[in-house]
Amino acid sequence: MSSYGLAVDQGTSATKCVLLDEAGRIARSASSPVAISYPQPGWVEQRPQDVLESVAVAAASVLEDVGAGSVVGVGLSTQRESALLWDRATGRPVDALLGWQDQRAASVCRRLRVHEARIRELTGLPLDPMFSAAKLTWLLDRHDPDRSLSRAGRLAVGTVDSWLVWSLTGQHVIEAGNASRTQLLDLSTAAWSPELLDIFAIPEAVLPAVVWSEGDLGVVARGPMAGLRLRAVLGDSHAALYAHGEVGRGAKVTYGTGSSVMQSERGAAGPGLDTEPNPRDDSGSVCRTMAWADPRPQLALEGNIRSSGSTLTWLAELFGTTPENLSRLAGEASSDGVHIVPAFGGLAAPWWDEGAQGLISGVTLGTRLPQLARAAVESIALQVDAVIRAMGGATSILADGGATSSDVLMQLQADISGVPVRRAVERELSAIGAGLLAARSSWGTLQPLHYNEFHPGSDHHQSAALRASWLTAVRRSRLDGE
Ligand code: G3P
Repeated sequence: MSSYGLAVDQGTSATKCVLLDEAGRIARSASSPVAISYPQPGWVEQRPQDVLESVAVAAASVLEDVGAGSVVGVGLSTQRESALLWDRATGRPVDALLGWQDQRAASVCRRLRVHEARIRELTGLPLDPMFSAAKLTWLLDRHDPDRSLSRAGRLAVGTVDSWLVWSLTGQHVIEAGNASRTQLLDLSTAAWSPELLDIFAIPEAVLPAVVWSEGDLGVVARGPMAGLRLRAVLGDSHAALYAHGEVGRGAKVTYGTGSSVMQSERGAAGPGLDTEPNPRDDSGSVCRTMAWADPRPQLALEGNIRSSGSTLTWLAELFGTTPENLSRLAGEASSDGVHIVPAFGGLAAPWWDEGAQGLISGVTLGTRLPQLARAAVESIALQVDAVIRAMGGATSILADGGATSSDVLMQLQADISGVPVRRAVERELSAIGAGLLAARSSWGTLQPLHYNEFHPGSDHHQSAALRASWLTAVRRSRLDGE
């Protein structure tokens, strides 16, 4: 009888489930959407029960014919940084899941600005409302202002992985890589930092226990996956990095709702790792992150982009069309001097400016949808390029994620960054990464992925001019003009 690994990727807009066969290939897949709401400017929420429900629906669909009996283990990858608070006794969420794009905790960050340098030193992350810590402070300020409920053990907080593992297995834990995105983990010890808990006013009693990315993470107690053993948990972008394997001096880019640009941190010990350190980044524009710990920690550099696929979705909704159609139009047009800076909730890497405002510049009476479509696609590639430059460059780009289906985007990325872009043919790399880690002890082999390659064009001047002109628009989008 065939055996399978079940991989669940809980992303911002949908949960994807895949069954991996013994050769690491996708035998079956299913997807279930999750609603997002924007109740106020800068607020981005999801219902925690919807997230759970979407996992159940996608898992039930993928297991329909196969049955849970032939599954050797479950690997889970999740959206990161999003945070929530729930009641330990009832298991009910106390408030919405604050999405990673949510900006409501900007006031908390402003209050804590004096601690910024120390926070970065301990966590590798800039102080920003994207990370979970400020969101958790905001939630606790609202629901447990004196922290008495938290100290009495009546409340629990977590990220999406914590919420799912709690709901599925009853354990209150967080995977180390996800924990490193909370901004409460001391990167040097892989443990909660008492100093940071003090700064953010978060009692330790409310936090989950930090666990390694792979191991026996409990048995699912209910729902379509009941009886299955959870063997791996990863952040979604980290899982995609794991699926690509060794990236050397290249960069891995996951083009999702936002984008995540990652490089293995050089100088880290381990077979196959480059020993020359990354160029020093004094600007603080790129994060240091724990990609996974199995239990050996793999550190990575990361630059987050808040809006990439979501820019196309937004524009498509405005004009009553689809992102696919926009991508087609973008391939047939020039942007004619139109630029989009998609600072819908400020700008993340490499600027980290929560005050930046979304901007469309260069419009004329002749501007039509094709120019806007082209400018939207260019904004994705230009943001990725800005992060790669802040990292000190990359020799190639390994690409995955939904927006990579656009050949126009892939070619633009190669042209703008001046390096080959290798697009994974396989879909759902985050799910594949989590599934491969979960199944590692049972199968032991990683199947090489297949790639389509996009080579940079020779017109460097055109790319340089586009970059310079778009960076002028970025400066305009920033209130302080820096
Ligand atoms: O950092 C946020 C990221 O993990 C969300 O990824 O693919 O759901 O947009 P995605």
